[in-house]
Amino acid sequence: MDQFRIEGGHRLEGRVTIGGAKNAALPAMAAALLTDKRIELHNIPRVRDILTMRSLLDELGVDSSLKHEREGNCLVIQARTPPDPVAAYELVKQMRASVLVLGPLLARLGHARVSLPGGCAIGARPINLHLKGLEKLGATVNIQHGYVEARVDRLRGDLIQFDTITVTGTENLMMAATLAEGTTVLENAAVEPEVQDLAALLIAMGAKIDGLGSPTIRIQGVTRLAGAKHTIIPDRIEAGTFMVAAAITGGHLVLDRTEPRHLTAVIAKLAEVGVQIARVKSRGQGPGFEALEVRGTPPFRAADMVTQEYPGFPTDMQAQYMALATQGSGSSVITETIFENRYLHALELARMGADITVDGRRAVVRGPTPLSGANVQASDLRASASLVLAGLAADGESVVDRVYHIDRGYERIEEKLNRVGAKISRVSQG
Ligand code: EPZ
Repeated sequence: MDQFRIEGGHRLEGRVTIGGAKNAALPAMAAALLTDKRIELHNIPRVRDILTMRSLLDELGVDSSLKHEREGNCLVIQARTPPDPVAAYELVKQMRASVLVLGPLLARLGHARVSLPGGCAIGARPINLHLKGLEKLGATVNIQHGYVEARVDRLRGDLIQFDTITVTGTENLMMAATLAEGTTVLENAAVEPEVQDLAALLIAMGAKIDGLGSPTIRIQGVTRLAGAKHTIIPDRIEAGTFMVAAAITGGHLVLDRTEPRHLTAVIAKLAEVGVQIARVKSRGQGPGFEALEVRGTPPFRAADMVTQEYPGFPTDMQAQYMALATQGSGSSVITETIFENRYLHALELARMGADITVDGRRAVVRGPTPLSGANVQASDLRASASLVLAGLAADGESVVDRVYHIDRGYERIEEKLNRVGAKISRVSQG
């Protein structure tokens, strides 16, 4: 397992190119199962989860090719013949997002057998709402031997009301509904940019979807979908992570190929604590790719933060915000409303000198506290990002273990950071 050795105390200065959104690319890859035509996806990030999803598609008998482009990577997928309906435990256990093949397989084949995703460090993360929705569309769903077995002659459109807002639940059912007979209405649907990006791809494939960006999505089923070309939106969480990196090191970064409209809550909160953020001309290509200039000078003001579904402050930025809040003057009360156990990074930040008290869904961060380099352990993707950010600001050397977590969602993050002044080395532990 690799680890990062980080020499803290270097302010970051320069330009960073933000990659495509992992959480938009994953459902887009699953959508290719809905048709036998060619799907061409641009601005694909080369992160571990994408490679895992490619392996899963390969296991389903679907070939894909990934080639490097000037900006990002191009992934071509074509499920020429009906895919194999079984997504086995070995791959699903590596990545919960594998559950996104369930809806498309069921819609295309009338049958799917997908391993139940296990638990996860940040919470139980059940998929009951995915399954309840598929049953509402007429599927018979059984769970046995750790697998979900779903069957249906043809899905029939119906009204689906989500008890809680679920991103991949909305995506799974939206994909399934595109080939159902009749109209499906999803109520209390997720409105994250990644959900909207998937809908844009499905519409390009010939799906009939209304209500994009609203909690009520209407899908009129069609008999078949065509091929399409689509460019994945920028990764708003990678952008937010680098914004905190600029701030916490007292640095100055310009982030190219971002979409500021997807970051309004993050920009507002960072500005509230005293980070200077401006939209500037990007070096990237056309519309949807702008640049953000970010400067920070610790200490910052303290500010409370509550994670919420989009357009609120994203839960995937909570750990990164907590690292910055350790440099805020006063108490910042953080409330995590989405997942029940997403404070594992707090204990590791405390080992670096942070003053954090966790009580259920609330964490109180008192600052500013000087951070000192330490050996710390990553537990999940965004927690590991938080530890890297703290290591950049800490006095002395930090060693972050289990960086395979961070590789799941960030493309060679240490190379991007070193290019703008960080001192990080990746050490393979065999
Ligand atoms: C997506 O996960 C993202 N992953 C997560 O990003 C993100 O944190 C999360 O949405 C929230 O924004 C991908 O898009 C691949 P949910 P997802 O279903 O869809 C409960 C990262 O760091 N729930 O919106 O799995 C669930 O337990 C990852 O990139 C049910 O109870 O999240 C949670 O408390 C981490 N039953 C809440 O809803 C269900 O059937 C929101 O979960 C489904 C969800």
